[in-house]
Amino acid sequence: MNGARQPVGVFDSGIGGLTVVKAMIEGLPSESIIYVGDTARVPYGTKSKSTIVKFSLENVEFLLRFGVKCIVIACNTSSSWALPTLRKYFKVPIVGVIRPGAFAAVRRTRHKRVGVIGTNATIKSRAYEIAIHRIDPTITVFSQACPLFVPLVEEGWLNGSVCRTVAQRYLQPLKHRRIDTLILGCTHYPLLASTIQQVLGPGVTLIDSAEQVAAEVRGVLTGTDTLCDQRTTPRHRFFVTDEPAHFTRLGHRFLGRLIGSVERANMHA
Ligand code: DGL
Repeated sequence: MNGARQPVGVFDSGIGGLTVVKAMIEGLPSESIIYVGDTARVPYGTKSKSTIVKFSLENVEFLLRFGVKCIVIACNTSSSWALPTLRKYFKVPIVGVIRPGAFAAVRRTRHKRVGVIGTNATIKSRAYEIAIHRIDPTITVFSQACPLFVPLVEEGWLNGSVCRTVAQRYLQPLKHRRIDTLILGCTHYPLLASTIQQVLGPGVTLIDSAEQVAAEVRGVLTGTDTLCDQRTTPRHRFFVTDEPAHFTRLGHRFLGRLIGSVERANMHA
């Protein structure tokens, strides 16, 4: 198969990675994409490192069956804990979401005070803090796990009093720390951006790493001479490890468009 025509593989613990796919479709419109959401085992954000690494290895093995030319870990939790192991085991280029998000935050912060929110596992890993300090060790990073944000988004509670109360509870400490930039370090959080912005006020810049990820994928594909040209019609296939109904019903909120068909992934075929 011609390298450029091979698809890009994307995986997430579930549905949230579609926010990254959305940015990839906008930024890399000719690329075909195979997406797998591990809906049978979501959430990853409450699990241990060894479990997250095991599930991530299986997701990559599934995507490799499609001859993907590059893999995007569209999950902050998995990027935080599994990226080094995946890069060790597989030759295919693998892009995570942490470094692109860290770069964007470093570029945007005015007073070198950056907040990071994510799942319990992502915050525990300190992956964003480490990535930011690798770029600029003089930046102060304040982290906060926001575990209730994922179920709120899954329920579609993106605005309103319950959502605002939860956001206030989580974000008040970061507000007191006078952060000027906040990394939305979880695939679900971009959907809560307006509530988060209301709570923090207009002076805080929100960073959604999805756009930066698309740019990084472009860089990788260019570097490996596998960037797809404009003349092909891309194909986007979506797989899930559990019953597809929930994913099909909610997916458009994350993807910004309707999802045609969702297939059931047989991970152990
Ligand atoms: N996709 C996960 C992340 O970005 C959120 C959902 C989960 O906990 O699995 O961290």
